[in-house]
Amino acid sequence: MTSVGIDAVEVWTGKLKLDLPNTFAPQKGDDPEKYTKGLGLEASSFPDTYEDIVTMGANAAKRLMDRKGLTPADIGRIDVATESAFDNSKPVSTYVAGCLEQVYDGDFHHANKGERKFACVAGTQSIDDAYNWIAAGRNRGLAALVIATDTALYARDSSGEATQGAGAVAMLIDEDPNLVELSHEQGYGSADETDFLKPQQQFPSVDGKRSMQVYLARMREAVEDLEAQLDEPLHPEDFVYVPFHTPFPGMVRKAGLLGYRHILRDTDIEDEVAEEIGRQPREESFDDRESYEEAIQSYMDELKRTEQYRSWYDATIEPTLNISRQVGNWYTGSVHIARASALQAAAEAGRALTGERMLVASYGSGAQAEVHAETVCDGWREEIGALTIDEQLQRRYDLSFEEYERVHDAHNHDLDTEVEEFTQPSGEFVHAGWGRMNERKYEYVE
Ligand code: HMG
Repeated sequence: MTSVGIDAVEVWTGKLKLDLPNTFAPQKGDDPEKYTKGLGLEASSFPDTYEDIVTMGANAAKRLMDRKGLTPADIGRIDVATESAFDNSKPVSTYVAGCLEQVYDGDFHHANKGERKFACVAGTQSIDDAYNWIAAGRNRGLAALVIATDTALYARDSSGEATQGAGAVAMLIDEDPNLVELSHEQGYGSADETDFLKPQQQFPSVDGKRSMQVYLARMREAVEDLEAQLDEPLHPEDFVYVPFHTPFPGMVRKAGLLGYRHILRDTDIEDEVAEEIGRQPREESFDDRESYEEAIQSYMDELKRTEQYRSWYDATIEPTLNISRQVGNWYTGSVHIARASALQAAAEAGRALTGERMLVASYGSGAQAEVHAETVCDGWREEIGALTIDEQLQRRYDLSFEEYERVHDAHNHDLDTEVEEFTQPSGEFVHAGWGRMNERKYEYVE
């Protein structure tokens, strides 16, 4: 079968920054370490007043097209994954195509366009759609542009406020990719859940603590589903990195421990660890579920202190969290910045990764987890070396708390507030106003 995967990736962060320990925590009367140590976050990114999901997505896509020397004639499909859409009919991908057509010769009239919704897992689902389109031979030799773009805003003073973020990831899905090849097998864990939702409202209704339990339960199901399709069970050393959906790094700390415990079972590493903390409890040895769960909890408390777990976590999970710590939750783009973050760390450390495998674990509330393997391709170092995310993060405008409040209001669809921009756009698409049918208007600023 043809090799299909991610050929190139570009990232665009919202241009504003809210410092969580130094600006947000004091206003909330919180210990800054709740953010840095507990949630694992240093800052959130926000869109400036002229930015939105379209500008961030189109800007990431333009950067990707320029770098790869692409024109609209090379793209047969544009899918946007978002849960921040402002229109129930016209997809964001049409706006993005309209933006790009302002600056390139040719058009996207023959590109199939759509919008994918399933909370944060929709970014990965859009990659799936592109994969299937190419693998089925319906792509006429063309590549697909997948854009995951969100403004992850929560209501002011809600529990999720600390985990906000905004940004876009553009990915080119193609045959014989340069970055990573996608595996054929996938595992799913999916159930009808009401933990995080936006019933015709901009900001989510969230049961925060429950959402974390649902994340872990569905993720575990997805891993079991993947294992059921493979000849051999998963082993902790199979994967160089495990990028998870990262609403905040603290969530991944929990998911990483659960995942490690699961794939440790019946391996040589479990035998090694057993010398120190015993073998992990097996459900069949308990009379009821409750006592089994208690025993598992104490086992995990000990497991997370073992040398084996700590070195696995430091090598396999920690490098996936570098970007997330600085930007917060990007919803659909979140797992894709986790992958980029890990590859960037590997490039900086001069690691040889070609042929190595990653386990990519996506999740969306409502709820569905999806896991699949990816194999790192030959051109990964050059691709990831072209990312400008560090410079973008450095350049963000650092908001005071009062400015943050104004920015939040400016992006609140129910308020009509005029807020001056904080940064000057240059060489990018901006939201420039409204048309006669209430459509958004965009222009390119030189
Ligand atoms: P909270 O009540 O503000 O925080 O809610 P907390 O009191 O639970 O503290 C957070 C952590 O910091 C805890 O760590 C504390 O112990 C620790 P844990 O015990 O869980 O390991 N902590 C400290 N650590 C060090 N020093 C201190 C200190 N104080 C506290 N002084 C919550 C947190 C996540 C619930 C909230 O932020 C929230 O509601 N977030 C939004 C929902 C969310 O992100 N859920 C994640 C799973 S669902 C998901 O990922 C899907 C999603 O992306 C949406 C989609 O799919 O579209 C959200």
